[in-house]
Parts: sequence; structure tokens; C-alpha cells
Amino acid sequence: MEIKGIVAVVTGGASGLGRATAEKLVATGARVVIADLAPNGEEVAREIGGGTRFVAADVTNTEQMDAVFDVAQELGTLRAVVHCAGRGGPIRVVDREGNPGSLEVYETVVRINLIGSFNVLRLGAARMAKNEPVEGERGVVIMTASVAAFEGQIGQIPYASAKAGIVGMTIVAARDLASHQIRVCTIAPGTFDTPILERVKEDVREALAAAVPHPRRLGRPSEFALLAEQIIANPMLNGETIRIDGAIRMPPR
Ligand SMILES: NC(=O)c1ccc[n+]([C@@H]2O[C@H](COP(=O)([O-])OP(=O)(O)OC[C@H]3O[C@@H](n4cnc5c(N)ncnc54)[C@H](O)[C@@H]3O)[C@@H](O)[C@H]2O)c1
Repeated sequence: MEIKGIVAVVTGGASGLGRATAEKLVATGARVVIADLAPNGEEVAREIGGGTRFVAADVTNTEQMDAVFDVAQELGTLRAVVHCAGRGGPIRVVDREGNPGSLEVYETVVRINLIGSFNVLRLGAARMAKNEPVEGERGVVIMTASVAAFEGQIGQIPYASAKAGIVGMTIVAARDLASHQIRVCTIAPGTFDTPILERVKEDVREALAAAVPHPRRLGRPSEFALLAEQIIANPMLNGETIRIDGAIRMPPR
């Protein structure tokens, strides 16, 4: 699909991988609406420029996400959704004191990452299903999993469960939406240098970078954005989760 002239919604677009994707899409000629909870969303949209809009929205909230897609459709034809919003929340199955892990934390992390992904997918796809096809396509949805979907580490039980759910959803969604001529792919990043890692100490960051076989460094958000751009552009990419991780395979901890 040609990116020039399309409208794209980027969730989590106020930071990290989402922000880099919004920047890339604007540079390629798309109009972008950022959906995020971040208080600096307006500022980020201004910095990105190109008429980028920010709508404060929680991806798990249907009304708020509907408002995001309304704004997108005011700008033109919504053809792409890149869903990057998400976050972790560490617990163990049984904690060090022998108590069962928090069901509340588990539910919250699954709600934000997995339920939020389905909410964005279903609402975005319903809008796109009404588009006129261009070269046999109505639109594309990209979701964000993690290598934790495949090799979750100790403490990542809710996050890994949610991200694995997104991977599982991908082929089903692509099959469901094939008759609507909408594609669905998922990107599973390894370790990327985003504000998520700002809270991590320098020696831990260095260890994370050193664990990547090649290139031996953290991923750059622009490299995630490059893959998102390619997925939108390439009509044969569908129903697949693509790892972008420098060949990292996470150890248990
Ligand atoms: N950075 C990494 O190394 C890495 C690795 C694997 C997967 N991921 C995934 O990539 C995605 C983006 O991560 P990032 O590193 O850019 O993180 P980030 O913290 O820089 O950005 C995430 C953005 O999502 C927003 N957000 C969180 N919950 C939200 C909600 N309920 N509704 C709307 N917005 C919400 C935050 O406000 C933030 O702006 C996440 O899904 C994350 O799990 C990141």
C-alpha cells in the first residue's frame, strides 16, 4: 500500500517505538493521529509536525478509541493502524515469601496489552472495512508483541501471557479480515532503546545490549519504524509475527 496520502493511527505514539513510527509515517507522507495517555502528547505531535494530531485515549476504552478513529477519519481515509501502546508489570507465579502472585497485577497487564490490542484491532478494522479498496486493499493493522511472547523471563508471567495472546491473535485476525481485504501483522521486538529502558540502570542496559548476538547493541526505535513501514507497504505481508531482535533469545533471567 502506498503510504503517501494515507491516514494512520499510532497508539503509544507519544513515546519510544510508537513515536518513531509516527515520525517515519509522517516523513513518508501520511497524516498521523497519535492515541496515547502521555501528558506530553500534544507537545510530541507538534514536534513531529506534518499536521500530526494527538488524542488522549486509553487503548482499553472503546469510547476514547472511537474518538481517535473519528479524528482520523476527519483527516482522510484511515488505512493503517500501528498499535504500540503497552507496558509490563512484574510478578512471579509464587513470590519469594511463598504467596501466590497478584491476580490484580496479572489482570491489569493482560488488560492493557492483550484486551487493549483486540480493542484497537476490532475498532480500527471496522472503520477500514468501509473503505474503498485501493489496489485490492482496504487497510492494515500492525500490533506489537515482544520476544517475551516466546521466551518470557522470570517475572514476566502477565506480560508474556499477553504478548503470546497477541501472537496467537495475528493469524486468526488476518483470516477473519481477509474477506474485508485488511491485513494484520505483529512485530515482536527484542530489546529497544526507548524510555522504558530509561528506568533501568546503566550496567543493566549494557548487559542487555551485550546479550544481542548481532548487532551487539540495543535496537533503535527507527529500526522498528522501518519494519512497520515495510509491513504497510508490502501487500504480501499478512498473518505473521516478525521478530526484530538481532537474534537474541532471552535466558530465564
Ligand atoms: N522497548 C523494548 O525493548 C520493547 C521490547 C519488546 C516489546 N516492546 C513493546 O513495544 C511497545 C512500545 O514500547 P516502548 O518501548 O516504545 O514503550 P514506551 O513506554 O516508550 O511507550 C509506550 C507508550 O504507550 C503508552 N501507553 C501505555 N499504556 C497505554 C494505554 N492503556 N492506552 C494508551 N497509551 C498507553 C504510554 O503512555 C507510552 O507513551 C509496547 O507494547 C512494549 O511492550 C518494547
